Amino acid sequence: MSPVDDSVRRYLKQTQELFGDTLYLDGTVSIPEQISMTPEPAIKLSAFHEQIRHCEKCALGKTRTNFVFGDGNDNADLVFVGEAPGKQEDLLGIPFVGRAGKLLDRILEAINLKRSDIYICNVLKCRPPNNRDPLAGEIELCEPYLQTQLELIKPKVIITLGRVAAKTLLRLDLPLGQMRKNTYLYHGIDTVVTYHPAALLRNPNLKKPAWEDFQRIRDTYLIAAG
Ligand code: URA
Repeated sequence: MSPVDDSVRRYLKQTQELFGDTLYLDGTVSIPEQISMTPEPAIKLSAFHEQIRHCEKCALGKTRTNFVFGDGNDNADLVFVGEAPGKQEDLLGIPFVGRAGKLLDRILEAINLKRSDIYICNVLKCRPPNNRDPLAGEIELCEPYLQTQLELIKPKVIITLGRVAAKTLLRLDLPLGQMRKNTYLYHGIDTVVTYHPAALLRNPNLKKPAWEDFQRIRDTYLIAAG
C-alpha cells in the first residue's frame, strides 16, 4: 500500500469512529481526485478488460462462452503465460481452472507461492474449438492484449508455459527442451520457459525437469524482487 493510501485509510477510519458512516466534507478537506484505495494496475487492468471483453477480431469470438482475460494479483512480480483457455476455462471465464491448472497450483505451493501471489493469463483469450492449436492469425490478433497486460502489470519475471507462449513472446521456434535451458529478456523482464502443466499430465517423465525449472523460477524471482 502506498503512503498516500495509508493516510487516506487512517483518515477515513478516524472520521468513521467520530461520525459513523457518513463522510462530512467541508472546505478544509480535499481529497485529490486521483487518490484511490485500489492499487493503480488493478484499475487500469480492469478498465482494459472492460474495453476488450467483447472482442470479435477473430472467429473465436463467435464460438467462445467466455472471454478469459486473466486472473490473480494485478501487482504481481510473477506473470505466468499459457496457451489458450480449455473447456473449463471457457465455461468459467478464468484461466487454468481445469486439471492442468490444479497441477500448476500444486507446483506453485511447492515453491511457496499461491495463485493470489501471481498473475496468470494466456496468449489467446478465447478457446479454440476442441482445444485445437491456436492459428498464427489468431495469435497475431490477440497478442497485443497480452502485451498490454504485461505493460500494465510490469512483472519482475515472466514464465511461459509451453511452446506456444514461448514462441509468441520470444519469437523463438525451437523445441521446448532446448528453450527451457536459458533465461531470456522480454522487454527487459527476465523470462523463464518451462513445460505446460498439461504436458506434465501427459508425460510424467517431464516432471523432474519441470521441477528444476520451477526452482530456477523461484530463484530468479527472489533475485529480481530483491
Ligand atoms: N491451458 C492453457 O494454456 N491455458 C488455460 O487457461 C488452461 C489450459
